[in-house]
Amino acid sequence: MARLQGKVAIITGGAGGIGAATGQLFCEEGASVVLVDSDAEAMASVCADIRSRVSGATVKDLVIDLAVEASAAQIVAATTGAFGRIDVLVNNAGIRSYEPLSEAKSETWQKIFAVNLLSYAYLSREALPLLRAGRGNIVNVSSTHAFNARAGMGQYDVTKAGIVSMTRTLAFEEAKHDVRVNAVCPGAAFTPFHKKRFEAAGRTQAQIDAEAETTCLMRRWATPREIAYPILWLASDEASYVTGSALMADGGRLVI
Ligand SMILES: NC(=O)c1ccc[n+]([C@@H]2O[C@H](COP(=O)([O-])OP(=O)(O)OC[C@H]3O[C@@H](n4cnc5c(N)ncnc54)[C@H](O)[C@@H]3O)[C@@H](O)[C@H]2O)c1
Repeated sequence: MARLQGKVAIITGGAGGIGAATGQLFCEEGASVVLVDSDAEAMASVCADIRSRVSGATVKDLVIDLAVEASAAQIVAATTGAFGRIDVLVNNAGIRSYEPLSEAKSETWQKIFAVNLLSYAYLSREALPLLRAGRGNIVNVSSTHAFNARAGMGQYDVTKAGIVSMTRTLAFEEAKHDVRVNAVCPGAAFTPFHKKRFEAAGRTQAQIDAEAETTCLMRRWATPREIAYPILWLASDEASYVTGSALMADGGRLVI
């Protein structure tokens, strides 16, 4: 249980389902973790949970808006101020939009690009000097829908495809500095976001479960922890020969 012993990791979207699960798992594996999110209340609750579940967890929360470019430098400064180094950056924050492309508004495009794509680019850029110093790595959270077209979430899916492209180019550019860059592409993971969405729509648990039965080979939703494990593996030295990859963690959704 020490795959990240002595490492310092930044995880964006740390108050959400996958970010919180990744934060907990990284703490269990010995990392010092900075969780970044704009939701102060959820963040406080996630940090308290991690501290109660993982004895000796070192977790710092940073409440900041990732849609603002200047936040990236502030996150890096706060992390080095607290821990003196950065070994792993997990770009995970994401928002959704549900406008068909024929009706897609400029404000929505700009907002979703700012969070889902540009925050990944700016934070990577600011963290790279530190990552280069310690042969660190970046894990970008994309989606199975980077590859798997569907109707109704085109703006989101474009950002997720952009993340895969950015991952590959950055892997190419940073290999000479021994920095690895990879993506994880989750399928349907049952996070608080989906729980709230289904509650608002008045869906029963049976209806929620049924949704996953036909849409992936595993016939069920993933837990957030099942996405956190592939992120952990890519971030760890066990993946020392892996860079530029997009690891599907989608229960086989892509192949059906
Ligand atoms: N859950 C899934 O089924 C699924 C599937 C594929 C990909 N993903 C991707 O995984 C990542 C995490 O998903 P999740 O389900 O845990 O989502 P989530 O909504 O639970 O968490 C996302 C977090 O990002 C934070 N965030 C949003 N905008 C922000 C901003 N401007 N500044 C700072 N923080 C901000 C939110 O407050 C939230 O805590 C996302 O990138 C998502 O697109 C999720």
